[in-house]
Amino acid sequence: MAKLRTQVGIVGAGPAGLTLAHLLRLMGIESIVIENRSRAYIEERVRAGVLEQGVVDLYNETGVGARMMREGLLHHGIELRFDRKGRRIDFADLTGGRGIMVYAQHEVIKDLVKARLDSGQPLLFEVENTAVRDIDGKRPRISFRHQGAEQEIECDFVAGADGFHGICRPAFPEGALAVFERNYPFAWLGILARVAPSTDELIYSYHERGFALHSMRTPEISRLYLQVPPSEDLDDWSADRIWNELKLRFELEGWTLKDGPIIQKDLTRMRSFVAEPMRRGNLFLLGDAAHIVPPTGAKGLNLAVADVRVFARALEAFYGKNDADKLARYSDTALRRIWKAERFSWWMTQMLHRFEGEDPFGHRMHLAELDYVTSSRAGSTALAENYVGLPWE
Ligand code: PHB
Repeated sequence: MAKLRTQVGIVGAGPAGLTLAHLLRLMGIESIVIENRSRAYIEERVRAGVLEQGVVDLYNETGVGARMMREGLLHHGIELRFDRKGRRIDFADLTGGRGIMVYAQHEVIKDLVKARLDSGQPLLFEVENTAVRDIDGKRPRISFRHQGAEQEIECDFVAGADGFHGICRPAFPEGALAVFERNYPFAWLGILARVAPSTDELIYSYHERGFALHSMRTPEISRLYLQVPPSEDLDDWSADRIWNELKLRFELEGWTLKDGPIIQKDLTRMRSFVAEPMRRGNLFLLGDAAHIVPPTGAKGLNLAVADVRVFARALEAFYGKNDADKLARYSDTALRRIWKAERFSWWMTQMLHRFEGEDPFGHRMHLAELDYVTSSRAGSTALAENYVGLPWE
């Protein structure tokens, strides 16, 4: 068996694992990244596409933001649509000039993979049988099989950035984690369509027939979503049915939704999930391995990057100043932000979706809340400051 040695062994090459590897390299800390999927798979997988201002700044400050700045779409507001009215939330005005970047997650992945490979540092794809061992000891290990050979990485720390279905969270001993979760009784049917967006900014629409979202990827590609029952069969949704339903839910006088060929269709489950604490011994969880948000607040990738930033700084203090305090506080520090993002995503989700069996009173509550949020400066500011991202600690 081949034995490797590094300071930080990173399981998972998603936004969390790759951003961590990137920051550590700039800090002069060694790492090895392993990923069970292929490079092509992670570079094409369709996910959400909104980056908070702080994430945009971080990528720019660390030299991986150039393509994002050229190809991403900088937005300074969103529209909330309800009761056949559209109301804008002006992020720039409400948050002192802050905004968001619409740039697909898989584009972020491409930029980070390239930075990693250009640096000559190890990033192994298509590994199998990954397991973490001795997390409570001084020398935790990651074992796996790569290109037919058994391998083992001995490290100081293991970063579990392997997503919700990964192997790192289950490596915590029985009873060591408290889990908090909520499953929502609906899903999002998402499409990518070859048609110019019908809007300059994202539109979140609350409608009697259910929620709809108009987002975009490029000036030629639109990304749209419909609230549907979680058991929905994608085959039951023809292109005509999808566009008709979208048109009904976005209905607004003087505005039309342009349609076009659908190039991809998918179904996203809606769930809130947090596992605490995010550390056991020398194993640290980052991103979706520890927490999931429903996509309504566009917080998933942003939260992963926030975890990474806290963890990277803690490692910098540990290796640079022999100070383990920040590592000891990693879970508490990260969770403070995570719970606020959980709250925001849950709030946006309940405000904008129809719940089965909701009575007319419930419907009026949605409308009143949306009216309040879009007409009170305090209400809009609460939405805006969360959406562009709360300040980093
Ligand atoms: C997306 O563009 O895929 C997207 C945008 C905003 C959301 C969720 C998804 O809240």
